[in-house]
This record gives sequence, C-alpha cells and structure tokens, in this order.
Amino acid sequence: MSSPDLTNITKFLDECHGVFGSSQFQRLVLSKYRGDEAQLNRITLRPVELKGQRLISCLYQYQTNHVTKNITTDDAMALCQPWLRDDFQNAHLVSDEWEVQLSVTKKGKVLFNKYRNKSAAMKPAASTQGNKVSHNRAKKRYVEQSRPYLNALGITDKQGEIIPSMSRKWKQINKFIEVLSRAIDNTGLAKRQEVHIADFGSGKAYLTFAVHDYFMDKLHVPTQVTGVELRQGLVDLCNQTAQKLNLTGIKFEQGDVQHFKAQGINIMIALHACDVATDYALHMGIRTGAEIIMCSPCCHKQIRPQMKSPQTLAPLLQHGIHMGQEAEMVTDGLRALLLEAHGYDTQVFEFISLEHTSKNKMILAQKRKQPRDNTAILQQIADIKAFYGIKEQCLETLLAQ
Ligand SMILES: C[S@@+](CC[C@H](N)C(=O)[O-])C[C@H]1O[C@@H](n2cnc3c(N)ncnc32)[C@H](O)[C@@H]1O
Repeated sequence: MSSPDLTNITKFLDECHGVFGSSQFQRLVLSKYRGDEAQLNRITLRPVELKGQRLISCLYQYQTNHVTKNITTDDAMALCQPWLRDDFQNAHLVSDEWEVQLSVTKKGKVLFNKYRNKSAAMKPAASTQGNKVSHNRAKKRYVEQSRPYLNALGITDKQGEIIPSMSRKWKQINKFIEVLSRAIDNTGLAKRQEVHIADFGSGKAYLTFAVHDYFMDKLHVPTQVTGVELRQGLVDLCNQTAQKLNLTGIKFEQGDVQHFKAQGINIMIALHACDVATDYALHMGIRTGAEIIMCSPCCHKQIRPQMKSPQTLAPLLQHGIHMGQEAEMVTDGLRALLLEAHGYDTQVFEFISLEHTSKNKMILAQKRKQPRDNTAILQQIADIKAFYGIKEQCLETLLAQ
C-alpha cells in the first residue's frame, strides 16, 4: 500500500492541536479501523476533568467491550499521528464552532473538509416546554432513522423507513431525546466519564434503547442503562434484543420499582409507570441524587378518594371529569413541589401533543448546583394538602422515612 498524502493529515492534526486543550473541544471520533488490533472498531476522544486536571478520555470500542484510558493532551497528540496516518480511514473532530472531517477514499486519496458545527447553529433556545417549540425545531429529528435499534424494535422496516403504524412512537422517541438532550446540556452529564441510567417500567424499552444509543453513539459517553420491568416476558425479549444488536452497557431486570434498590443513578426515567409506582421511582431518583429525573405520570389513583371539594370549588368539582382532572393536577403539582423542596428545578409540561397519546404530561427535574431554603415550599405543600383535605401523598411519605 502506498503511503498516504500527508498534507491533509497534517492539516487535521493542526486542527486537533488547536482544540484539544480548549474548552471548545467536544470530541474526536476515529473510525474505519484497518490496524492490527483484533476487534477494535473505533476510538472516541473527549475532554474530561479529573481532580482539577484537564485530560482526554479515550474510549476504545471493541466488538464486545469498551475500554477507557485517560491521557494528557500531549499524549493524545502523539497518538493521533500514527492513528491518522496508518490506522483509521475516518476521523471526525467536533468543537463548539467547527466540524472537521478527514477521510481516506478507496483509492487512497486523503480528503479534508471543514465546516461550521451545524448542531451549534441549530441549538434550541433555553425553553424546554413542548408547546413553545417553534415549527422549524419541531421538525428537527434528534434521532437518526438509520439507527439499528429502531429496526430491531419494529419502528423502521428493512429499508430504514418508518413503519406507518409506528409513527407516533417515532415522534415520542424524538421528543423524549430532545427534552433529555437539553437537560443533559444543563447538567453537564455529557462530560462525565460514565453515566448510569435507570428506566423504571421500561416496557418494550423503546426509550431505554433510545437513551442508551444517544449516550453511546451521539455523545460517546460510556453508559450503563438498566431497564426495570414487572413483566418477565418483556425483560427476556429486551435482553435478547440487546444481545442481537451486540450492545454493551444495557440490561433489563425483572422487578417492581417499589422494592428495587438502586445506587449512583445519574438519570432516573419513569415514563407511564402506573399510579404510585411514579412516586417510588421519584423517591429513588431523589435518594440516589440523580442529576436528571424524568417522569410521565399516569393512572392517578391515590389522591382523588382523599380530596374534599373546597366550598368555592364545589360547583366546579361536582362533575366527575373535573374532579379527576383536578386530582391529577394536585397529584403532579405536589410531586413537582416535593422535587423543588429536595433540591431540584422542576418543570411540568406537555410532553407530546394529544394527537399522539393521551398520556402527555412530563415532569422534568434537574438537580440544582446549590440547594435552596425549602421552608416556603414545604409550607405551600402543607397548605395545598389542607385546602383539599389530603392526608397522605406517597412521595411525601417515602421522603419522610
Ligand atoms: C405503559 S408501559 C410504558 C413503557 C415505557 N416506559 C414507555 O413509556 O414506552 C408501563 C410499563 O410499566 C410496567 N410497570 C408498571 N408498574 C410497575 C412497577 N411497579 N414496577 C416495574 N414496572 C412496572 C408495566 O408492566 C408496563 O410494561
């Protein structure tokens, strides 16, 4: 094999040199490996801060496992030279402002391409409220249709097209990743060495696979995802799917969220876990200090039988449907306040519009860097309970234990 033209490789190395030590550096992905190391697919370099020292984390992705090594920027530069010259046919450098691509064609030509970072230009505004998303942004897809898990889960067909009957699920997955991605940006989780995620009531695990793929493939952060599900059949099915896709860092366990013990979770997800299962999941998220808690509550049963209509509201709440809506609002409002009282910034908003599913409310909580004085919030909770005559709310009881 003739030696490659070094001009563009040198240009690319200069780009790496310019960003490796800067706060603009996001990642360098080296792919299409042609070296001697068995089973190596690609290497991803990302900035990492360890004990106040800025280092570069190298994630070696092998066919069946991943290995991480943290090195200095100088060492990374030294390694990049042989990697780019001899070992990888593709390199993609991403900084906040630029993307630089180096690729070797079949004929051995080395191509260099530098362009503005498109996702930085498209970065959405701060609002995370689903109904405030602009038209253009709503059309932006956060998940690539070609991702293999979509086909394995029956969202796409063999040609990679969305199966029409799954289009609602497809929209839900995209919206979920959109909301999550902004929370990840806010909490700095993309810069962690490893992230732990629990999905309670994972069901068929569309969202569990989506979040795993987002971290591993888009953010290149090693991630351990655990789906917890009551139904053994679904647990087996999802583990088989993960195996078929050769995925590492994702597993499914049979269990009831009410008895599940978890530690060190960074992201707690509970979408459509019924009734107080949501409270148990929220409790676990708070207790383990999760940076992000995302839940979409359903089947609100605990509060309604306890609620007494305050006199002024009685003419409104005499209608069963209104009482149900009020009970739902009070239940989720109390949950949001309890999260606020325990150190989270919390939003309650429409997850995806009603045309896609009736279960459309999301509670998103992001852990505050500094705790706040919660006296006033606890008083608000007590006042609301007294106003409606509520004796017990599951999350509050769990937090008091
Ligand atoms: C409506 S599905 C939602 C699945 C998935 N989270 C999603 O949004 O696509 C709810 C799932 O939660 C499971 N589930 C309900 N209560 C649970 C509990 N206490 N512990 C674990 N799983 C539970 C059910 O078996 C079901 O598969």
